Amino acid sequence: MAVTIKSEREIELMRESCRLLAIVHKELEESIRPGMSTKEIDILGDTLIHKLGCIPNFKNYNGYPASICVSVNDEVVHGIPNKHRILQEGDIVSLDAGLIYKGYHSDAARTHGVGQISPEAQKLIDVTKQSFFAGIKMAKAGNHLYDISNAIDAYVKPYGYGIVRDLVGHGIGTSLHEDPQIPNFAQRRRGLKLQAGMTLAIEPMINMGRADVEWLDDDWTVVTEDGSWSAHYENTVLITDGEPEILTLY
Ligand code: MF3
Ligand code: CO
Repeated sequence: MAVTIKSEREIELMRESCRLLAIVHKELEESIRPGMSTKEIDILGDTLIHKLGCIPNFKNYNGYPASICVSVNDEVVHGIPNKHRILQEGDIVSLDAGLIYKGYHSDAARTHGVGQISPEAQKLIDVTKQSFFAGIKMAKAGNHLYDISNAIDAYVKPYGYGIVRDLVGHGIGTSLHEDPQIPNFAQRRRGLKLQAGMTLAIEPMINMGRADVEWLDDDWTVVTEDGSWSAHYENTVLITDGEPEILTLY
């Protein structure tokens, strides 16, 4: 599939889709407390997305059974909400959510601490977030796609963390996943040239230990192979001729 360039009208719809998703994320962040189940987070998110007049785009995507991906500690992404999985003080929890507004998709992820967390866990969360911002410094028309990948890699490297290689960011628009794929680790080439009107979901996934991941028997949950904890930070971003617009920021 080709990389799509959005028209002004499409950009307006993307902006609104992403603005509504930011509301969902903010509400979910504020709801997090020790003792709640990961299923409760999914119900809250699903309910709010529908209340906003939108459709959760993850639900039934390739058979994924929930609206919000909830991934705890060593779970990297695509954790399946479960009423028996109870958040404990000190855990970190990654929430990945998306929705469809008038046919246009948005996608964003955040990792939050549950109650008081260790300084090491907080640092992982902060570095993962900052790696996104290092990446999007390069995200403007005329630069190349892998300038973003290389900047994320260069930012993370000094910390000795593992950058997940098996999962990548992606274009987004009338589909959740459009071309191009956006790796979070250094590439040999510079990749395609960025153009104003591209909308990209940029989403570093960073492990405290090694980069290797594996899939659980549920066929969805991605975990670190070494059991180290993992963080995720994702926004849907609009490429412009100047600074990028971070459409899902809150
Ligand atoms: N944010 C995820 C991504 O970018 C989407 C979750 S995949 C799903 O790929 F199947 F859970 F929906
Ligand atoms: Co995504």
